[in-house]
Amino acid sequence: MAFGIGIIGCGGIAGVHAQAATRAGLPIVAVWDIKPDRAQRLAQTHGARVCASIDELVAIHEVKGVAICVPNDCHHPCAIKALTAGKHVLLEKPMAMDLPQCDEIAAAAARSGTTLQIGFVCRGSPAARCVKSFIDAGRFGSIHHIKCALYRRRGIPGLGGWFTTKARSGGGPLIDLGVHMLDLSLWLAGSPRPVRASGATMSGLGAAMRDYTYTSMWAGPPKFDGVCDVEDCATALVRCEGGLTIEMNVSWAANLPEGHLKDGLCVIGSKAGAAFQVFGKEVTIATEEEGHLVDLKPHFVADDPERQMWDEQYRQFIDAVEGRAQPHADAPAGRRVQALVEAIYRSADESREVEVAGSRP
Ligand SMILES: NC(=O)c1ccc[n+]([C@@H]2O[C@H](COP(=O)([O-])OP(=O)(O)OC[C@H]3O[C@@H](n4cnc5c(N)ncnc54)[C@H](O)[C@@H]3O)[C@@H](O)[C@H]2O)c1
Repeated sequence: MAFGIGIIGCGGIAGVHAQAATRAGLPIVAVWDIKPDRAQRLAQTHGARVCASIDELVAIHEVKGVAICVPNDCHHPCAIKALTAGKHVLLEKPMAMDLPQCDEIAAAAARSGTTLQIGFVCRGSPAARCVKSFIDAGRFGSIHHIKCALYRRRGIPGLGGWFTTKARSGGGPLIDLGVHMLDLSLWLAGSPRPVRASGATMSGLGAAMRDYTYTSMWAGPPKFDGVCDVEDCATALVRCEGGLTIEMNVSWAANLPEGHLKDGLCVIGSKAGAAFQVFGKEVTIATEEEGHLVDLKPHFVADDPERQMWDEQYRQFIDAVEGRAQPHADAPAGRRVQALVEAIYRSADESREVEVAGSRP
């Protein structure tokens, strides 16, 4: 049964949420943004009501589910407000700014008894789901290593705005791209507990502001009077309980020759391994068949991977809200990634491997 959606924060990603929710049959009932013109624009496209405050939005009876699409430092107050009002919440990633905030959000969800799903949308990637189905069928044996990477050569979002202000975002590409890669890797491997992490970050291109060469830009034009105190690139090695290691590389800006380092994931197991890109239409699986090492390309439906990924996220949200399934990317998944990100930054600061909070049972 369709239920109404409210959208909090009407910037870049809100439009994608609104389209995916609409495709899933959920009407956009109301929207709220601190910038009224943005709320007005989104409302006009979807025939929604513009609210004058978050309180007004969460008081609307027809709004059963809320998509939270605000900057990272606003996730916690907005999620608490919506959950406390009894709304089901699809909360954009990262879950929050720190572990205490994650715990407060999870507690608010538990008190209200409503669904809380974290926006780890990459779990809906058709290629990732194809690989996951092989892993779950035991075809990969035990997974011992995952390499994951997303490289932008010049792709700092909104230089000088909230994305590049650590107090508002929590960090740079590790927070923006790395959380997707880490969650996806852990999910594929069956959610082993991350135990130790070693990380390094690099900055300088973004911080140079005016000397940064733009090739592409999203999240608005650069604000040269703004702040850029986050990393340009992050790299990490994560050790998990049971022996899985995850090697992660993400960048917003790096002097990388074009095309040499590939985006995507490489999952290596004892019986087979796979390589794929999150938005890819193809998966390659390496395995042994009758004494030969062969690369197979399994068939799966990938007409429009990005759209399918978002549709899958909303399908799972609806299933959770209507009680057919547990939330797919739940609060513990969001908290686990938060703990990992904090460990990677701590390791980078201290130049040594560190323990991940919550790594002991
Ligand atoms: N899942 C993904 O692939 C993906 C992609 C992009 C962004 N995101 C996440 O989505 C969130 C929003 O990112 P974005 O790119 O849309 O940013 P954005 O800057 O384009 O939009 C954020 C909007 O929130 C509004 N806002 C700020 N504070 C608010 C408040 N307290 N209440 C209501 N509105 C408020 C701003 O005016 C702005 O319109 C971030 O958490 C980001 O990490 C996820």
